[in-house]
Amino acid sequence: MTAKSIENQLNQLRDNLRYHEHKYYVENQPEISDEDFDSMMKQLEALETETPELVTTDSPTQRVGGSVGFGERVQHYSSMLSLDNTFGPDELYDFDRRVKQMLPEERIEYVAELKIDGLGVSLVYENGLLTRGATRGDGEYGENVTANLRTVRSIPLKIASIESSPALMEVRGEVFIPRDRMDDINKERIENEEAPFVNPRNAAAGSVRLLDASITASRPLDIFIYTVGYAEGIEFATHSEALGLLERMGFKVNPSTECFPSIEGVVEYCRRQTTERENIAYDVDGVVVKVNSIAQQSELGFTAKSPRWAVSCKFPARKATTRVRAIDVQVGRTGVLTPRAILEPVHLSGATITHATLHNEQDLHRKDVRVGDTIVLERSGDVIPKVISVVKEKRDGTEKEFHLPDRCPACDSPVQRSTEEVAVRCVNSACPMQLKRRIESFAWRSALNIEGLGPAVITQLVDSGLVSSVADLYDLKKADIVEFERVGEKSADNLLREIEGSKRAPAAKVLFGLGIMHVGQNVAELLIEHFSSIDALAAADVEEIASIHGIGPKLAESVRQFFQQSANQEFLRRLKDAGLQWESDDSPPPEISQESFFTGKTFVLTGTLSQMARSDASKKIKECGGKTTSSVTSKTDYLIAGESAGSKYDRAMELGVEILTEEEFLARLPTD
Ligand code: IVH
Repeated sequence: MTAKSIENQLNQLRDNLRYHEHKYYVENQPEISDEDFDSMMKQLEALETETPELVTTDSPTQRVGGSVGFGERVQHYSSMLSLDNTFGPDELYDFDRRVKQMLPEERIEYVAELKIDGLGVSLVYENGLLTRGATRGDGEYGENVTANLRTVRSIPLKIASIESSPALMEVRGEVFIPRDRMDDINKERIENEEAPFVNPRNAAAGSVRLLDASITASRPLDIFIYTVGYAEGIEFATHSEALGLLERMGFKVNPSTECFPSIEGVVEYCRRQTTERENIAYDVDGVVVKVNSIAQQSELGFTAKSPRWAVSCKFPARKATTRVRAIDVQVGRTGVLTPRAILEPVHLSGATITHATLHNEQDLHRKDVRVGDTIVLERSGDVIPKVISVVKEKRDGTEKEFHLPDRCPACDSPVQRSTEEVAVRCVNSACPMQLKRRIESFAWRSALNIEGLGPAVITQLVDSGLVSSVADLYDLKKADIVEFERVGEKSADNLLREIEGSKRAPAAKVLFGLGIMHVGQNVAELLIEHFSSIDALAAADVEEIASIHGIGPKLAESVRQFFQQSANQEFLRRLKDAGLQWESDDSPPPEISQESFFTGKTFVLTGTLSQMARSDASKKIKECGGKTTSSVTSKTDYLIAGESAGSKYDRAMELGVEILTEEEFLARLPTD
């Protein structure tokens, strides 16, 4: 293929992928199946691997990676102001009066839109390409979070070409997480011993500021763009016109926005949205009302901190008061003790609340929650309710302070309080409660998918002493379990069949089921895709793991640590012996077209390559019939050394292993 035709092919694939990304993430109207989309993406990735010099930053494959300037303080082109709040129709009428006082004689048109409860961000596009993403910060200065915002699939990396493409453009919007995705995120956080996010806004804010963009990429972040901050050479007559342009440029603009010829319509819109609120897929904390005409906006101007041409109309908060009956303690998968308030049942935004997490001892004492206290609860969407405050006036002196116990409530072994972390932890690796939690997550549908292994059965398995490690599940006999309460012949058979069936679960699911901190489903798949087997992953060093496109350093370190622990090594050996899938089943044997320089040789990659990612170099070597390993030994044929190669270089010198520079390596790759 000629260079030109490869480039054409790349461009076509990218345009196609952009089109379908827009259909899926912006319009919510996918035209092709996820499988077709993925296979198109794989095709592009493969082609880009072959022609690394043709990879562009706006390619759909380049959402994760690169972090220039991350975390730096950046100045906004113009201040990102906040809005004055109004509560209820009367205050909206007041706003309308104020506007008309300043603009007598004029007809005022209003735009009403949802006020998304997320994180305000600014996106800068230079010559159509996303070059900077920042948080709102204090309105003047924000934080550079470009690397993380690039992972949000509804944010275009490249503006769709339209009649007028400004050389410089800044748009503003609100990043959010849909409510129904919060449960998944919090489940993962609890497993990782992190306090669950109390609401989608915190989850969005936390995700956008993570240091590892590959973790951000796994969060279901979305965005609505609500305004143009600056667009070189473009003037708008109205706000609605700006929204229209944004939409045509490929930005996600909220579809509930409406225009009204007078404030009455706005009042009615607010009333409607207040009741609609529970049915909206994301958290909305009110309505933003804006004067539509840009000329009128300029006339009205600003006060010190907010525009005179816009207000927000806040919805009432979803709060309730109730009493703390008791406080109990839960023990998580890795032994962290979490205090939990047991409440007098209370109704709050469509659910009856009986429990609220108190996160940790520090948080509990900061809020000074005591048994018997009357507390204010807030619930945001489907999220675990949060204790906002204690109504201290209601105390009568009978309330009791609570302290986490010195012994684990499940196994009675002494707990560990470290000075570095807030968590109080049961460090008994044989603690039955921890084990129960580990079995639960091992059996999840998204992991080994063992149906019938619910809390009741798990409790009996552990309490009877039959199972003291997840691996013991594979030694269970029917006679062992038919005796259990509420487990008859039939369900015993079913359970054993399910456990047997889990041996067919693909290696990626096994890896996910191991419960390695930060290794979610997607990451497990990426890891297996790259390493082809759990053993190869276990033998890899942090560098190699982190070199995978989509895996960051924190995640790589967590994986490495898991495989280093000797207790885990024994556990893994038992699972493997039991017959669980250890290798990826769908890795086709590498296509070795002909003998090449690489055939049958063992390579180690080190340092930074300038032409391609190490993982891609490794893929190339495999395609050419060679093998890559992570450490230099006497069996290594060649070390390929990129920029700032370290200890592996020294080791290769010591052992007399031949060293190739990047150019020497590239020169030996076959040209197709
Ligand atoms: S307009 C000067 N529109 O609310 C105009 N803001 O209190 C100010 N927000 O920081 C922004 N949805 O992060 C606007 N449809 C919307 C919004 C919205 C959410 C946030 C935004 C801003 C804060 C203003």
